[in-house]
Amino acid sequence: MTDQVAARADDELIVEPGGELPAEDVRAVEEVLVLDFGGQYSQLIARRIRECGVFAELLPATTPVEKIRERRPKALVLSGGPASVYEPGAPPFPTPLLDLEIPMLGICYGMQAMVLALGGRVESAETGEFGRTDLVLRDGGGRLLGGLPEEQSCWMSHRDAVFEAPEGFAALASSPSSPVAALELPDRGLYGIQFHPEVVHTPYGTEILTRFLRDVAGCIEQWSPQSVIAEQVGKIRAQVGDGRVICGLSGGVDSSVAALLVHRAVGERLTCVFVDHGLMRLNEAAQVVEAFEQFGIPLVHVDAEERFLAKLAGVEDPERKRKIIGEEFIRVFEEEARKLEDVGYLVQGTLYSDVIESGGSDHAATIKSHHNVGGLPEEFDFELVEPLRMLFKDEVRAVGAELGMPERMVWRQPFPGPGLGIRIVGGEVNRERLDILRAADAILQEEIRAAELYRQLWQSFCVLPVVRSVGVQGDGRTYAYPIVIRAVTSDDAMTADWARLPYDLLERVSNRIINEIRDVNRVALDISSKPPATIEWE
Ligand code: XMP
Repeated sequence: MTDQVAARADDELIVEPGGELPAEDVRAVEEVLVLDFGGQYSQLIARRIRECGVFAELLPATTPVEKIRERRPKALVLSGGPASVYEPGAPPFPTPLLDLEIPMLGICYGMQAMVLALGGRVESAETGEFGRTDLVLRDGGGRLLGGLPEEQSCWMSHRDAVFEAPEGFAALASSPSSPVAALELPDRGLYGIQFHPEVVHTPYGTEILTRFLRDVAGCIEQWSPQSVIAEQVGKIRAQVGDGRVICGLSGGVDSSVAALLVHRAVGERLTCVFVDHGLMRLNEAAQVVEAFEQFGIPLVHVDAEERFLAKLAGVEDPERKRKIIGEEFIRVFEEEARKLEDVGYLVQGTLYSDVIESGGSDHAATIKSHHNVGGLPEEFDFELVEPLRMLFKDEVRAVGAELGMPERMVWRQPFPGPGLGIRIVGGEVNRERLDILRAADAILQEEIRAAELYRQLWQSFCVLPVVRSVGVQGDGRTYAYPIVIRAVTSDDAMTADWARLPYDLLERVSNRIINEIRDVNRVALDISSKPPATIEWE
């Protein structure tokens, strides 16, 4: 979703909440299908194509050709994969794809499989190429690479290489261990590159993808936050008709953007329920309420702090805390849902990454396992509305910004459903401890934002271990809590590294926490990565 693409899009695609949407705007966006051979960068290929302004979806390489034909994609991209083309059981090139006469770009394994199927020579090279590699163009670089620098660097990750292109193909480039590192047969729309255009370490990667998409496949740059909004508004209206919709808000970006989209589609027939469990950060509950008031979205704000704290009294075990919070959340949500009449639909902020993880786009809608609104009793019989099902997280943020969401909400770091309840560790959760943790956390957030580090961090927060230790303040001894600072960088929360926060920032945070919060006399920094630690404490 480049600025250029955003700038091309039509303002008139934006419709008023619940207003009329011109029929021609509910159009099918042209699409590119990425056939996944199991490569580590397959998702990234789809993301990069979308960043070029063209919708791309990931499908398993085993998808029946008939199904691909029905989708009428503008182009096909075959991803990399971990196997050698000669390994027993290596996924074969789906030869019937050639009959579709759709422009095709094979990347790494995808290219090798194509070459092998068409009679070229693929062999194991003496040395593999992993990482940054020099690439030299041959014979001007052909249609795909022509005009780019004769010598450039690219990112490789392979052991097998193409030694001879199939008959009729032009070899476009080579690298030290890849005699044919790029090839093409423009008359049949077939292209292949050994390197990875989707990673940032291939400087001309985006340019090469754009050429394939625009010049070869004739794609129009029409995928943008505006087009997503127009398309989703149309789809939601088609699904929901005159029905009433409910949405459980968590304060996070996914449920908020999903709610905004649905509101744009059905207006006041959407009711949002915000179960305020009293375990949010300082002022966050008020910010959610204020934002939704400003959007004019009907919001039921349930102040359930007392209920949650009563249930949590005396509970020390983290799993029990989590369970109690989850169950109570559902109970409160249920009570509110029952008060609303004729609700047939439930909004879920399921993302494309959830869809891929749960087995692809054809999979039955699975409610996010860690989502708070999971496990609603069947008697409700809600049909799910999932307007973010095809979006990556960064696209959700772009859509949120386009819908006018405040920057603070758009860029909010992930926050666990059970909130601060799992960040008070080794003791019960009570108001006194929550207030201490909230105050410390607010100082950390303020300083991290002031240092302009907030967006660079996957998460940053404070933890309150329920232990006291001795300190000295003024002339007296203190016996107070420590606060642990946890700040991590990560791409997806599966792995994480502790953030190297500047010492002067840490000093400021530590001084402020100890000086401003009476019950804290120490600040510690968590310097563990995940694995073996986790991001949260609990
Ligand atoms: P861990 O601690 O397992 O966390 O490294 C990975 C990511 O998941 C978030 N997290 C949760 N999110 N409900 C949620 O919605 C939960 O119960 C929960 N527990 C952990 C955590 O903040 C991190 O981003």
